[in-house]
Amino acid sequence: MKKIGRNDACWCGSGKKYKKCHQRFDEHLKQLQQQGYVLPKHKMIKNEEQIQGIREAAVVNNGLLDYIEENIHAGMTTEDIDILTRNFLAEHDATSADLNYQGYPKSICTSVNDEVCHGIPSKDVVLKDGDIINVDATSCYKGYYADASRMFMIGEVSDEAKRLVEVTRECLYKGIEAIKPYESTLNDIGRAVQHHAESNGYSVVREFCGHGVGLSMHEDPYVLHYDPGYKTEVLVPGMVITIEPMINQGKRDIHIGDNEWTAYTDDGKLSAQWEHTLLVTETGVEIISK
Ligand code: MF3
Ligand code: CO
Ligand code: CO
Repeated sequence: MKKIGRNDACWCGSGKKYKKCHQRFDEHLKQLQQQGYVLPKHKMIKNEEQIQGIREAAVVNNGLLDYIEENIHAGMTTEDIDILTRNFLAEHDATSADLNYQGYPKSICTSVNDEVCHGIPSKDVVLKDGDIINVDATSCYKGYYADASRMFMIGEVSDEAKRLVEVTRECLYKGIEAIKPYESTLNDIGRAVQHHAESNGYSVVREFCGHGVGLSMHEDPYVLHYDPGYKTEVLVPGMVITIEPMINQGKRDIHIGDNEWTAYTDDGKLSAQWEHTLLVTETGVEIISK
């Protein structure tokens, strides 16, 4: 492979000369590598134009979640949430990344109570007082993707359910706070999430993880919500990832239901999840899905 010259076009696709773009960045990364860090691959680094596109996709995706937040209520079905989603995305010139993804049949995920993730909207699932539900949306706008999810509490919810929802949100933010550009690694995110969940008496689901996002829904790297105990990539500016911890009230064990998508807790206890799309910046982190 030919070494990139100072006046060559930068590998990031910006169209700028390498010396005016990622040359200093690469020198910094080389130093980190000498210190023993694992470096992210070039394709995990977005350029300015891509980041701007992802921000715009996030505006639509956040608008969708706001719209659902305003309209969710006891007595509606999760199918109704799918209808809200389809209408909103059509009106905003956007599409659902979920629809037809590996055969997924709907435009959004709606996971109620003991459903961990990938709950499929259905006419048969009526939201009732006391339910907790995760609504997970991934929108595609002008070819760019943003992914986020929120928990909603329907009517009067038990104190235990509220605490799970709140601690799970804190787990997401502990993960975000662990992002230190050129310094922390993906493990640090997982460790922070796991520590907060377990010190509150909860468990972390391991079968699903966060991910790179932006040019498609799921990209490298994996973002684990626990510390796997091996070295993972250092976090550097231009990486766009999700953090989306699934936290169980009881044991972490899960199974997939008959529809071959929806994950449930084995013990039937509650599960919660919150998700943001995040950009690592020169000085910290930007919550794109906010
Ligand atoms: N939004 C999910 C995520 O956070 C993925 C949706 S899976 C699909 O990664 F099957 F619904 F598309
Ligand atoms: Co999601
Ligand atoms: Co995601």
